[in-house]
Amino acid sequence: MRLAHNPYGLCAFFCLLHGLTRINTRPMDILYTLLMKDDIENKLHKRLGRVHARQRLGIESDKERHIFGGGLNFFHPENWYSLAAILRYTLKLTGLYYLGQRNTRRLRVVHNSLCLPGLPGAFEGYTILHLSDLHVDMNQQAMRHMTSMISEMDYDLCVLTGDYRARTFGAIDATIAGMSQVAHVIDKPAFAVLGNHDSILMVPELEDMGFRLLLNESVVLERGEEQIYLAGVDDAHYFRVDNIQKARSNIPEDAPSLLLSHTPEIYQQAAHADFNAYLCGHTHGGQICIPGGYPITLDAKCPRYMGSGSWQYHTMHGYTSVGAGSSIVNVRFNCPPEITLHRLTAGTKSQQGSSAQRR
Ligand SMILES: [Fe+2]
Repeated sequence: MRLAHNPYGLCAFFCLLHGLTRINTRPMDILYTLLMKDDIENKLHKRLGRVHARQRLGIESDKERHIFGGGLNFFHPENWYSLAAILRYTLKLTGLYYLGQRNTRRLRVVHNSLCLPGLPGAFEGYTILHLSDLHVDMNQQAMRHMTSMISEMDYDLCVLTGDYRARTFGAIDATIAGMSQVAHVIDKPAFAVLGNHDSILMVPELEDMGFRLLLNESVVLERGEEQIYLAGVDDAHYFRVDNIQKARSNIPEDAPSLLLSHTPEIYQQAAHADFNAYLCGHTHGGQICIPGGYPITLDAKCPRYMGSGSWQYHTMHGYTSVGAGSSIVNVRFNCPPEITLHRLTAGTKSQQGSSAQRR
């Protein structure tokens, strides 16, 4: 007998759902799992291949909300949800909360000259809009301000370096709704990678709205007869499903190449895989910094000088965006949010040849 025609069956179903809800406290997740997950998983198998899809889904499930261990670093404050409440109450007690909230809306546009040795002449001055760590469902007012700024900007390509969701687990609906507002104002090709706050389940809908995800993949960018390569890796910080070898595999040896990664933490692997440039985010520049802009923590296993802005490692030129959004608690101190415009240049002889590590 069908469930809908059986009052006892319906009653049992809702009792089971209620019981699960009490255990898990996430009814939307349970309904989502029951109704949608199979369909999205099938799409992911086709899009990414069975191994990558199963690895990412399995690891997301295994490592959900671990505060200690599991990622490249040991402590994961973004998964410690009591920390947000503690910070919020402490800031309210000290009278700093509303000042910190106001700072999250002070979005600035940062201009960076990005050197790619061997850059073809047609790409000199090519401009990349770099968005990172939007956490779109954390602060809708800040995101509205950001989209109105983007709608008036001029650029050739948009890249997004991950962390679209506020939380690190749970429903993705609010994130998808927020990202559709961002997609609405981007009028050039857009390529993206996922961060440690993002679920692989977001991929089909993000791609449907026009963001092409680079998940250990590369694409060629063309201008006239000339080409450069853009690659991207899946999250290396927490899920550790990045594969630089696969991302680099279709790029000719001497071709100018640029890598997107959520985190700066795989800078060594990227430099020694001969990427010329590296764009990332994740650190938020510390988000809460002491006066002078010194971060208390970067939540990343990398040198402090890679925590924000431009840097160089051997001959690879990198840039870490402090991000446009905020995480854990919606405040920023001494570290304003940014969106970045990178202007590509072949650079001078000294910029191209330097093998010194800047520290
Ligand atoms: Fe982030």
